[in-house]
Amino acid sequence: MYFLGIETSCDETAAAVFTDELRICASVVASQTELHARFGGVVPEVAARAHLQRLLPIIDEALNQAGVRLEQIGCVAVLNTPGLVGALLVGISAAKALALALDVPLLSANHVEAHIYACRLDAGRDIFPCVGLVVSGGHTSLFQCRSALAFELLGATVDDAAGEAFDKVANILGLGFPGGPALERAAGKGDATAYRFPRSFLNEERLDFSFSGLKTAVLYAVHGKSATQGGPPLTEQKRADLAASFQEAVVDVLAGKARQALRQTGLPRLAVGGGVAANRRLRQALENMTAELGAELFIPPMNLCTDNAAMAAVAVEKWRLRQWAPLDLDAQPNWEANGPSGGQVGSQKL
Ligand code: KG4
Ligand code: ZN
Repeated sequence: MYFLGIETSCDETAAAVFTDELRICASVVASQTELHARFGGVVPEVAARAHLQRLLPIIDEALNQAGVRLEQIGCVAVLNTPGLVGALLVGISAAKALALALDVPLLSANHVEAHIYACRLDAGRDIFPCVGLVVSGGHTSLFQCRSALAFELLGATVDDAAGEAFDKVANILGLGFPGGPALERAAGKGDATAYRFPRSFLNEERLDFSFSGLKTAVLYAVHGKSATQGGPPLTEQKRADLAASFQEAVVDVLAGKARQALRQTGLPRLAVGGGVAANRRLRQALENMTAELGAELFIPPMNLCTDNAAMAAVAVEKWRLRQWAPLDLDAQPNWEANGPSGGQVGSQKL
């Protein structure tokens, strides 16, 4: 049984073909980086228009690469929450039209749950229950994942997401957009102990995160406390040292909070997803931490960490439960998993 997966939640237009046995036949991603770079961030309207132009060719490309004809698709799965509303709507509209035209079921999936499911795809075996850490441009959250579709929120950022902090600090350091990979490259040439930046909540029991103070600390280190502009230009070495020290602070907090979550839940498995999980320093720190605890670590390869449509295979779990989405399925720009006392979470009620 072939599924077509569609993802258009932010600035990547993506389509994938996978099977009910979770074999990924093709996964095609068209990044819009070049469209947004001059604005220093993703412009929602520009993203939506680009999805509109690119989605059908990307679906064609995924089908071609998979060697599967459109008539062979037995189910269409689309990520409908969370994300930019205009961007989501493009993927949802295409998915509905295809499901209707092919007369096959439509399935919706959650982008955050899908990031964790990328670990399941890569592992090739069940990974639940586990602690889930989602670190992306929009989310920094820890979950107790009871199953692929039942997430309980353990903690989340109270301000910026980790990826957002990478992007903003890269901007402060003049490293361009997108910031995460550029900052990681600069950090490779720097001294991570050169600056001692704050590690919010690290010594507290709560499993929440805060990165805006860290971002401000970098800003002050660059421009001085009184000014937000000016000061002597950054030398290459100072820029690298600031990048490395910032990255170390983020990594310390993410690895530290993931360790606390493993301890507090008693779960022996950690699954990590989202664009920031592509960061090599973070991957190394999580490997060291889980090895020390004797816990299992699941982090997918880079192309499954950043946004893609293969992770829409989380919808296969709904397909097994016959949880079809209605043809009036809507975009849900915001989504928050319930807290520990909140009961059933995550999946949209169908
Ligand atoms: O999951 P993702 O592709 O999109 C969202 O769902 O947000 O994550 C994008 C975020 C961006 O903020 C980007 O700067 C960050 O992931 N990112 C990285 C790296 N690669 C991407 N952050 C740190 N190091 C990286 N190597
Ligand atoms: Zn994402």
